[in-house]
Amino acid sequence: MKLKQKFYISTPIYYVNDIPHIGHTCTTVAADILARYHKLCGEKVFFLTGTDEHGAKVAEAAKKEKLSPKEFCDKVSKTFSDIWPKLNIQYDYFIRTTNPDHEKIVQEILERIYKKGDIYKAKYVGLYCVGCEKFVTESDLVEGKCPLHPNREVIKQSEENYFFKLSKYVPILIEAIENENHPYHYKISPESKKSEVLSKLKAGVNDLSISRAEVSWGIPIPWDKSQTIYVWVEALFNYYTATKITKNESFWPANLHLIGKEILWFHAVIWEALLIAAGLSLPEKIFAHSFYTIDGQKMSKSLGNAISPQELIDKFGVDGARYLIASSFPAETDSDVGWEKFSKKYNADLANGLGNLVARVLTLAELNCDGQVPSVDHNPDSHPLRIDNKIHNWKKVWQDVDKLLSDARLSETLESIWKFIAEADKYINQTKPWELAKKNRKEFNWIIYGLLDSIHQIAWQIYPFMPQTSIEIAKQLGLEKLLIQTPLYKDSWTNIKPGTKIEFKQPLFPRIK
Ligand code: MSP
Repeated sequence: MKLKQKFYISTPIYYVNDIPHIGHTCTTVAADILARYHKLCGEKVFFLTGTDEHGAKVAEAAKKEKLSPKEFCDKVSKTFSDIWPKLNIQYDYFIRTTNPDHEKIVQEILERIYKKGDIYKAKYVGLYCVGCEKFVTESDLVEGKCPLHPNREVIKQSEENYFFKLSKYVPILIEAIENENHPYHYKISPESKKSEVLSKLKAGVNDLSISRAEVSWGIPIPWDKSQTIYVWVEALFNYYTATKITKNESFWPANLHLIGKEILWFHAVIWEALLIAAGLSLPEKIFAHSFYTIDGQKMSKSLGNAISPQELIDKFGVDGARYLIASSFPAETDSDVGWEKFSKKYNADLANGLGNLVARVLTLAELNCDGQVPSVDHNPDSHPLRIDNKIHNWKKVWQDVDKLLSDARLSETLESIWKFIAEADKYINQTKPWELAKKNRKEFNWIIYGLLDSIHQIAWQIYPFMPQTSIEIAKQLGLEKLLIQTPLYKDSWTNIKPGTKIEFKQPLFPRIK
């Protein structure tokens, strides 16, 4: 594994017109898992999330609740910043775009781009979707409505706006994406999303309207206070302003912007063009995941089928919720979830799979080895389980973890770890250690030692996904300190020390009815 100096990861900043649901949860949990994994690899990590608080949509929602926009933002933003720690999400900074420092820095940057000659004034006539907070074309619509917001009317707009010369940057962006040696090179993943962006770029792109005359809830254009900055333009800059506000400039630029597919164009085209215009460096990678559907249906307010993070925690516990999110993470295609699917998965993988393996092995060791790790001959070549090679596939699992997590493939990573759990379980059934405890002590000890060692590898592998469970397993194995303090611990095989006290407490995951 390569050691990098730093890893800067971000989630989108969420609109405060809605309270957190499973869609927001999936991106934030995924970012936390990746942040923890990179810390585990010894890197310095900066993990950013936050809320997007300006624009017509938020002003409209505030009006409905009879609150001033700022009061409304304070209220809803708190529902996001409060829920994430409950899911054991350890972000480093929570940015709010109503933060005056953010506003000031965005104005400075925009002024710079204006002075450079990349911004001009012109009349805009077009259709606007307030739900998306973006201009749409006739061809984007289905039966005259935006497909993402079919309950809203698109609005015909005609006003004088400031425009950013986006079209000027199209040739540079195409080269930057395609050519790995280009000074502005950045990656877009999955591959299908990269192709989508490239073909749209090649089809031709218009300049971008970056101000609004009619939206007062926003940051004023510094040289013309009668207009506000288009909410998407200022929102994108949160990734930069956060590093300035927190004096974490050394983390800039981001290594990974984790986003949903519907906001790919903003993140993989508009953002980079603005950065080049502002003379700032570009992110390393944009990963656009797909969507959750709920029991085959689109998640929506009107259907009332959205699942909240709190409901998930109440039913499955914090680590249960994190596992279910990660194992259904819609990396490449949409992923269908629902209460029944979640309950089945929880019982199969956590109560029966991981929980049962840990209980089985620790109980065997407690009953037959005086509650201690048994002593063994530490020559790995004479280890029967090594020769057998199946249960010691954990090295292969580590290779999978490293490879898959380098591209946000959370569910595949878990599949690899769970295959190993199933192998360990099968191994116990085949070797029947309980029959050997009295008959063949040497072999019994080897088997139990190998299984304890496998569990300790598993504890380490699941750490980014389920930190509390991981630490609980490490505690039961007498290894808690090692797990927390020693990055790269996984490279050592003989960390389970004979004589260490072990203790099985209670099932890690009680079954759910
Ligand atoms: N405010 C903008 C982002 C600005 S970033 C500079 C925004 N906010 S949002 O509140 O609408 O959140 C969008 C994000 O929520 C998506 O990109 C995605 O991460 C997540 N999801 C919302 N619904 C989702 C699903 N049904 N499934 C999975 N994730 C989806 O857009």
